[in-house]
Amino acid sequence: MYEDKKIIVYVTGGIAAYKAATLVRALIKAGATVRVAMTRSAQAFITPLTFATLTKHAVLTDDWQADGTVPHIEWAQWADLHFVVPATANVLAKMANGIADDMVTTTLLAAVGDKVVAPAMNDHMWDHPATQRNLAQLAADGVLVIAPAVGFLAEGYEARGRLAEPEEIVAQADVRLLAKTGQLQGKRVVITAGGTQEKLDPVRYLTNRSSGKMGYALAQAAAEAGAEVTLITTVVRDAIFGVKVIEVQSAQMMYDAVLAAFEMADILIAAAAVSDFRPVDVADNKIKKNGNGGLTIELVQNPDILAAVGAAKRADQFVVGFAAETQDVANYAKDKLRKKNADLLIANDVSRADAGFEVDTNQVTLFTENEQVALPLASKLATAREIIAFIANKR
Ligand code: PMT
Repeated sequence: MYEDKKIIVYVTGGIAAYKAATLVRALIKAGATVRVAMTRSAQAFITPLTFATLTKHAVLTDDWQADGTVPHIEWAQWADLHFVVPATANVLAKMANGIADDMVTTTLLAAVGDKVVAPAMNDHMWDHPATQRNLAQLAADGVLVIAPAVGFLAEGYEARGRLAEPEEIVAQADVRLLAKTGQLQGKRVVITAGGTQEKLDPVRYLTNRSSGKMGYALAQAAAEAGAEVTLITTVVRDAIFGVKVIEVQSAQMMYDAVLAAFEMADILIAAAAVSDFRPVDVADNKIKKNGNGGLTIELVQNPDILAAVGAAKRADQFVVGFAAETQDVANYAKDKLRKKNADLLIANDVSRADAGFEVDTNQVTLFTENEQVALPLASKLATAREIIAFIANKR
């Protein structure tokens, strides 16, 4: 999504300044035209020559020679996107308070495009209430803050403060700022993911092969489309920027979380593989072999989350279910659409090796009351984007 984007990377003075060179290269590789501005203290860590060579453009510093232009205004208006990487506590404080006392902060104050800051600093500086106040202010001003990671700091110990990896900064800004289609802007979407775990004893549970990949892909696609996303999941995979995750284990826990979240939601997408049954009794201690060979487990039915939501939904709410089938896919899917009072039922033929559980690809068919749309085999993310576009068209 960076093709044809014009970006200024502002490098400020910290030991992570050298990583800005990797970021600049990654942005250029992704198709952007990049210029670099540097504070005086950043130049103590890395030279302007490095960035001038990478970007093939002069670097903006406080020593910019008067050439008849007003550089901070010209640069601020030229760029679509502004990345402050690494962002020191000092530059965050200045940005949060509108202070413009050098070329970097003056240009940032004049900039109208989206801004991304990736802080890096000592953990005590990060934790300081003043820094946290400034970060909250920047977030309220619409600046995307990419938090530092926990890692080995220049101080010689592990703590939060390490600059996020350049690839992550590029990816997060892509998802959060550029890939957004706006199709679900202002909508609240609840998504379920993973296979539920039904406890047998303190060390065992009944579950299934769901990896949560389809649910996570849907969460990413919905976030890209501008939705406020809550993901209720039994598996925790890589965090998706801006997606709220609620971790659950059993079908009953998922039921409680979904019904609470659905009240305020516009759309539910039930991609989880929910166990239809759970053991009647959960043993307090690990079940032991009793010498006569077998063990009989009595099961009781779990609540049907999708059916409950389908029954409770208001006219302004849209409910989507999945169907994992191995035979007669269309008939079973249409039957579930009706029985669960869903607006859309997505069937995957889980007898295929390249679709359904665990794999990275899926092939699904979308069923509404009157339509049947088969999507081609594709990655789960590509499939999720098609599904989100389909849902957005119905709203
Ligand atoms: O997680 P992955 O490894 O990526 O795999 C993705 C997937 C195959 C799990 C996913 O694409 C999928 O098909 N999910 C639904 C699987 C399933 O359990 O289908 P079902 O036919 O049993 O249930 C139909 C629908 O009712 C589903 O939306 C399910 O979430 C819901 N349901 C089922 C039982 C129950 N007690 N409560 C429910 O809400």
